[in-house]
Amino acid sequence: MTLDLRAVDPARDANALATIYAPYVLETFVSFEEVPPSPAEMQARAVAVLEEGLPYLVAEDTASGRVMGYAYASPYRPRTAYRYAVESSIYVHPQAQSQGLGRRLMDAVTLACQKQGMKTMLAVASLDPDIAVDENPSVRFHRSYGFTQVGFLIDIGKKFDKWAPTVLFQLSLDQQG
Ligand SMILES: CC(C)(COP(=O)(O)OP(=O)(O)OC[C@H]1O[C@@H](n2cnc3c(N)ncnc32)[C@H](O)[C@@H]1OP(=O)(O)O)[C@@H](O)C(=O)NCCC(=O)NCCS
Repeated sequence: MTLDLRAVDPARDANALATIYAPYVLETFVSFEEVPPSPAEMQARAVAVLEEGLPYLVAEDTASGRVMGYAYASPYRPRTAYRYAVESSIYVHPQAQSQGLGRRLMDAVTLACQKQGMKTMLAVASLDPDIAVDENPSVRFHRSYGFTQVGFLIDIGKKFDKWAPTVLFQLSLDQQG
């Protein structure tokens, strides 16, 4: 599968984004949302990211035109002194995982954020409480990418009737490291 990265087209990609995201919402702790957003909602969220001047990228299979993953950065928190901090989100279709796409998407998102003058990126990994932290795929991915674990929030979410934690990760976007 040859995958090209491109900027999201919110209207055109809304269905694909919703289709990739829904199983993670319905079946996993990877997202702490519990009701899958509609394509219209995914479109609105993508528009909101673009309106902030932040990157929202999709990976498209060149042969089929199918979107196989996406990643974006959104403002970390609304209060103004946080304006150089972004939070990353990344979702790769299971059929496209473990082939380097997550790293490619993250490279593109971090580069775009650096160009926007952003200072730091946060990522929140929400965890299945029945899986050891070190075995969690998102934890492994963010550590491998170079994020530093800066927080662990105990029992911060409740999903599938279980209390679940999150790990907070931080990555410096300073060009010189
Ligand atoms: C986490 C996720 C984005 C990784 O994407 P991916 O395309 O499979 O990752 P890559 O192939 O680019 O791998 C990049 C690195 O992460 C590591 N990694 C990725 N998935 C892993 C897993 N399941 N277990 C262990 N390590 C993993 C790889 O070993 C690789 O490290 P290396 O380069 O040092 O060998 C993808 O699995 C996914 O979408 N998961 C579900 C959604 C999710 O958890 N998103 C994060 C929300 S915060």
